[in-house]
Amino acid sequence: MTNANKDKLSSARFSQATDAFVEIFTASVGFDQRMAQQDIEGSIAHATMLCTIGILTKAERDSIFQGLEQIKSEIERGEFQWSIQQEDVHMNIEARLTDLIGMAGKKLHTGRSRNDQVATDIRLYMRMEINAIIAMIERLQHALLALAEREAGTIMPGFTHLQVAQPITFGHHLMAWFEMLVRDKERLQDCLKRVNIMPLGAAALAGTSYPIDRELTAKLLGFSRPSANSLDSVSDRDFAIEFTAAASIIMMHLSRFSEELVLWTSAQFAFIELPDAFCTGSSIMPQKKNPDVPELVRGKSGRVTGHLMSLLMLMKSQPLAYNKDNQEDKEPLFDTVDTLINCLRAFADMIPHIQAKPENMLNAAKKGFATATDLADYLVRKGMPFRDAHEVVGLAVRLGVESERDLSELSLAELQDFSEMITEDVFDILSLEGSVAARKHIGGTAPDTVRQAIQTARAALPAKR
Ligand code: ARG
Repeated sequence: MTNANKDKLSSARFSQATDAFVEIFTASVGFDQRMAQQDIEGSIAHATMLCTIGILTKAERDSIFQGLEQIKSEIERGEFQWSIQQEDVHMNIEARLTDLIGMAGKKLHTGRSRNDQVATDIRLYMRMEINAIIAMIERLQHALLALAEREAGTIMPGFTHLQVAQPITFGHHLMAWFEMLVRDKERLQDCLKRVNIMPLGAAALAGTSYPIDRELTAKLLGFSRPSANSLDSVSDRDFAIEFTAAASIIMMHLSRFSEELVLWTSAQFAFIELPDAFCTGSSIMPQKKNPDVPELVRGKSGRVTGHLMSLLMLMKSQPLAYNKDNQEDKEPLFDTVDTLINCLRAFADMIPHIQAKPENMLNAAKKGFATATDLADYLVRKGMPFRDAHEVVGLAVRLGVESERDLSELSLAELQDFSEMITEDVFDILSLEGSVAARKHIGGTAPDTVRQAIQTARAALPAKR
């Protein structure tokens, strides 16, 4: 008979051992051992607090510290014997502690429950991972800034409806991605405020009759404060849902970036070259160079959104307070963390090696009558109402389409047929360079404005780590 089963039968409540399959079915140690370091950290703080309020003697506390330190190094060295019979990370560590130090180990669980213990562990774990994710976002942001700086003056077509709309600079396009990441990071930082609140002390659901000092435990663990309601503390996982929602938005952004990279590497666009190290060939078509990394990132966005749905469904019908359902929060959460950090890393590693093909970008911008709006604006500046100008430019574009020429390739006489207001200076604004240079207000695509935006962004970003 297993240890936990022996304990269970020694408890007067049970006369039957747990079914062997049920034992496996209900165990979480296979995945929650990932929180072992946080579990130990939480126990050290709890034991410290129990000693200051006189529940543990100093000798008992120190013996607990020693035992936990040994367990920590056993885990780090991969020597810890995890057992399904001990169900989860909490009971595995506690059982080993009692093996190692005897009686004092059994006292550690005074005034707490696995319900507040697990909620504490998850929050500690998430705090660590959110900080790691933020650091990875910043790495990617630095990579984008460097590339945007290099390409601040590179002209490319800007699209709406995936049709050439107006010329922009490649640097400006990259800075659009950068801005999405600024908000992504803010969402995580905001989420962190609610993650960093301590449930420990809520015990099973109603608190405990021991005179615990929750302020002290919170301080020891670096939490901003103890939670305000014991029932809420052990039951809600909204902070995990919130994190997964923020993660889904980040993945959605990465998926959009990916989609553009995939399009741009195609022969039809040929705007950029991805580094060979981030692409693979085809087993049958020797000419292929596939953009696997962005495709995979695009694909993985669905999986993170799936985890968000799992967590929402997991939570929605649970009565207060803790229910075993909550054990199902961990796998979606862990996979969200892994997926997100790997995708961010792949991007941060890949972006610096992207090679732009300015010639192709320029030619594509030339093909789509990208300066039609500039011509309309020109006529408006000369006094024509915008709607009339729109009409005139429409006629000019039609002539361009029919004769297969860009607006800048029409002659002055041809343009003047559409309006007498047009004079020689029109060719300044029909050039792509003139078009982008004119958009120099805050948020505009002019190369100098983009360089300014990059500088401002870099100043606001923590230095490269
Ligand atoms: N393994 C459990 C979980 O992940 C720990 C809490 C179990 N509490 C209980 N009363 N069964 O949620």
